[in-house]
Amino acid sequence: MEMSVNNRLRSQNESDMQRKSVKFVFNDQYLIGYENEPIAVALLANGIKAIRFDETLGEPRGIYCGIGHCYECRAVVNGVQGVRTCVTLLHEGTRISSSRPGRLEEE
Ligand code: FES
Repeated sequence: MEMSVNNRLRSQNESDMQRKSVKFVFNDQYLIGYENEPIAVALLANGIKAIRFDETLGEPRGIYCGIGHCYECRAVVNGVQGVRTCVTLLHEGTRISSSRPGRLEEE
């Protein structure tokens, strides 16, 4: 079980003490992030670069544009498919799962 909020860049005015930590789940793994940060940022801070897998070739996909245009970061969030994790904010208990080839029809 990986629980880390490290791997982050910080501004000079910000510290971990000022932000509220929340637990969330990615592919059945419990992780820690910060309330109201983009889900993709929380995943990256936990060392997760592959958010989903291409439906055709099964290749890993993750953050590409980071501004909601490319849809490469989409995942299933709280049961909703195709959510862009780079523009969706993290909250306590958010459940995220990757789209994998053949899984889209199952979920
Ligand atoms: S990284 Fe492009 S939409 Fe999220």
